[in-house]
Amino acid sequence: MESFFESRVVWINLAYLVSAVCFIIGLKLLGSPATARKGNQIAAAGMAVAVIATLFMPGMANIVLILVGLAIGAVLASIPSRRVKMTAMPQMVAIFNGMGGATAALISLVEFEHKVGIARGEIISIVLGLIIGSISFSGSMVAFGKLQELISGRPIYYPSQRQINVVIGIAVLVLALVIILLGQTALTLPLLVILFLGALVLGVLTVLPIGGADMPVVIAVLNSMTGVAAALTGFVLNNQALIIAGILVGASGAFLTLLMARAMNRSVSNVLFGAWGAHAAGGGAGGAADAAEALPMREVTAEDAAVPLAYAEKVVIVPGYGLAVAQAQHAVRELAESLQDRGVDVRYAIHPVAGRMPGHMNVLLAEANVPYDELYEMEQINDDFANTDVAIVVGANDVTNPAARDDPNSPIYGMPILNVDQAKQIYVLKRGRGAGFAGIENMLFHNPKTAMLFGDAKDSLSKLTTAVREA
Ligand code: TAP
Repeated sequence: MESFFESRVVWINLAYLVSAVCFIIGLKLLGSPATARKGNQIAAAGMAVAVIATLFMPGMANIVLILVGLAIGAVLASIPSRRVKMTAMPQMVAIFNGMGGATAALISLVEFEHKVGIARGEIISIVLGLIIGSISFSGSMVAFGKLQELISGRPIYYPSQRQINVVIGIAVLVLALVIILLGQTALTLPLLVILFLGALVLGVLTVLPIGGADMPVVIAVLNSMTGVAAALTGFVLNNQALIIAGILVGASGAFLTLLMARAMNRSVSNVLFGAWGAHAAGGGAGGAADAAEALPMREVTAEDAAVPLAYAEKVVIVPGYGLAVAQAQHAVRELAESLQDRGVDVRYAIHPVAGRMPGHMNVLLAEANVPYDELYEMEQINDDFANTDVAIVVGANDVTNPAARDDPNSPIYGMPILNVDQAKQIYVLKRGRGAGFAGIENMLFHNPKTAMLFGDAKDSLSKLTTAVREA
């Protein structure tokens, strides 16, 4: 008989324990931009340990096929991951997440066929894993299509949409119940395939009516679902690493969803079933633009703006979605450096939902090697705007809108904002009078202390840097 430590399964379980510790440390390190890269590497190493350990499981067959599959997957994932632009990251996450959901669903289907004498508990795991994984897969594919503009980013409606979704949802649940009660019979597999197809349709129909700009929140929800589906698959396969990884993904996705919703002062159900996306993608933006036409804005040139900047003591840079669109992260660092060379205190104010994905600004600025200690969270810097000589808003809009703080009738009332309007002087860099994501007017742009520097952010920042150096 094998001794305790000679048993292969014990070693495999120990390896799984190591990978679980890596996942948890990785997640912890992902909490700060300074350690996020290392966190990602540690979690990836943990996953590599788990995958390799699994290959040594007793009874593992088709090793060559598995290795070929691993190689194909690694190549297909790593090439686009290296090439993807930061602005296209949300759709990249969507497609990877969809693959996770599809895998969980397919494993559930296959395991049902494989297992002999399945217990009721296992059937429940299989059925739930199949439903959640399928919804996550098809929903993620629609989210990908919207973000990649393969399908319209506008909310897509059709008559009696909600009623149809409810009917399909109930049908899926009833079928799931029938399969669980039926157990392993000749009829069950065809029913499982129908369940699989029904859940796929449900995923598509749930995401279609949501506006493209709300996709990051949708992806976080779907990500959480994929985690749950993976954990359920882990129960079916009796694989501890999969259970732990799935639960961690499920929980962190759920937290991320709640944090994003809270930072926008919206409920998750408002994002998933509300009309905000419709407002932004529909006529809202146009309406705001029309209103903006009516109100005056003070325009300046880069040369005009450079003088107060160059002679300021404290400057705060407020980046937003436009920084990502313009890919102006290097240009903004150059401006900050030219000011710092003159002894100006320069900091960046980071709103939790600036941009279109969590940590968007942190990632962009990190890519341009902006020192982490110059980045301040909203709570850390908000009280300091009143002592700031010049605030430079680079392609940010909603996250600076004072209506969120002051106007109870505003659709974004209650959303925490950066108190940019309290700075002594404000320069806003944007291309024109276009509205932000919420499609509403921003009175900050009409504030007497504000001056607009119109143009692409990258171009405006380069001009500002040159002008500051010459000032
Ligand atoms: P937005 O409110 O979307 O405003 C971005 C501004 O950038 C626009 O007004 C646009 O004006 C300007 N812009 C676009 N391209 C530009 C370019 N090349 N150069 C210069 N300016 C450019 O951005 P924000 O303040 O970052 O707010 C984010 C919004 O997204 C919030 O409403 C938030 O709730 C929402 N949201 C965020 C997330 C996450 S997780 N971050 C997820 C879902 C939704 P012009 O067209 O005039 O240039």
